[in-house]
Amino acid sequence: MKVASRLAAISPSETLAITSKAKALKKQGVDVVSFAAGEPDFDTPEHIKEAAVRALHEGQTKYTPARGMPALIEAVRQKFKDDNGLEYSTDQIVISCGAKHSLYNAFQAVCEEGDEIIIPSPYWVTYPEQVKLAGGIPVFLPTREEEDFTIDSRRLKSLLTPRTRALVICSPSNPTGAAISRDRLEEIANLACEHDFYLISDEIYEKLIFDDFDLASIASLSREVRERTIVINGVSKAYAMTGWRIGYLAAPRLIASAISNFQSHSTSNPTTVSQFAALAALTGDQTPVKIMVEAFRKRRDFMMERLGGIEGLSCRKPVGAFYVFPNVSSLRMPSAELANELIEKAGIAVVPGGAFGWDSHIRLSFADSLDNLGKGLDRLQEYVKSKL
Ligand SMILES: Cc1ncc(COP(=O)(O)O)c(C=O)c1O
Repeated sequence: MKVASRLAAISPSETLAITSKAKALKKQGVDVVSFAAGEPDFDTPEHIKEAAVRALHEGQTKYTPARGMPALIEAVRQKFKDDNGLEYSTDQIVISCGAKHSLYNAFQAVCEEGDEIIIPSPYWVTYPEQVKLAGGIPVFLPTREEEDFTIDSRRLKSLLTPRTRALVICSPSNPTGAAISRDRLEEIANLACEHDFYLISDEIYEKLIFDDFDLASIASLSREVRERTIVINGVSKAYAMTGWRIGYLAAPRLIASAISNFQSHSTSNPTTVSQFAALAALTGDQTPVKIMVEAFRKRRDFMMERLGGIEGLSCRKPVGAFYVFPNVSSLRMPSAELANELIEKAGIAVVPGGAFGWDSHIRLSFADSLDNLGKGLDRLQEYVKSKL
């Protein structure tokens, strides 16, 4: 038996693997505090669940158009207009089974065999694997911790070749929580227009932003930029809806139409009842989002304060998402080994930075109660003290 080389080269998602390991240990009764979660610990707001239940009772159990149901596409169009100042027509929008699926479709749409896709590092684990699946070559653009992991346009320029097809940006970022300022976005957009490459802008953490950071969608900078950008977003993180699997993208018409055709032969429409839930999320009461963001901000501050008190660790302050990304280089250990020791000896699950192409760090999610975070940080502090 042989697996086709296309799939044999793909690595499993390390973030999902560590979350599963932590869950399995907890189930066996082992006392593990998990900092590995890639999803909000909040439940989906009640009015969203109710909309889904209503849809089921009304018999909404059939196929919708492959690109998503018209009412949801219209809600997404309106969301882009209201939140991002982006004017799209409905035929530029495709709803998919999570933002991960939207990204997969985007890479399939833009990437020819051997095309280079630039990915700033540290990066979200899935980008390079999806690029490879599309026949592309991931080219990494290292950022600097001292520059808050932001993209340096001179370094970006030095990586451009005639095969450069696209740049991926993720703001706020998983794993660093850093966001890209308007000035930097302008520089990046100018390069994209000058050197004719696409921008794939992953905005899944858009709503989880703190400290009045002036977050902009790069596509909103000009019509020219919008015409070369695929904006990716979804309801997973903003509305605590990771299990519902609804993501969406907006793109130039030609690309959106190709993606819609592609999707019609792969998954068909995303789950109908989840589309009704997403519609309620986008058009309903936004108070639960505000409550969640405020809780995340408090936890971020708590994490920063506690990490600041652990000798040997240093950490940039994230402005968005729900992760901190402390530097653990003083422990002089590959991050995977460290993560293994932490789960086995200290009873805490963290994601090794190596999974994000950044071995000197670990990622701690603060999608948990302050009590649990405090308990986990006590253990981390003890462990680091014993090692230095
Ligand atoms: C940066 C980033 N993009 C996209 C996704 C995928 O989101 P979804 O659950 O909607 O597929 C995630 C999920 O962890 C993420 O961290």
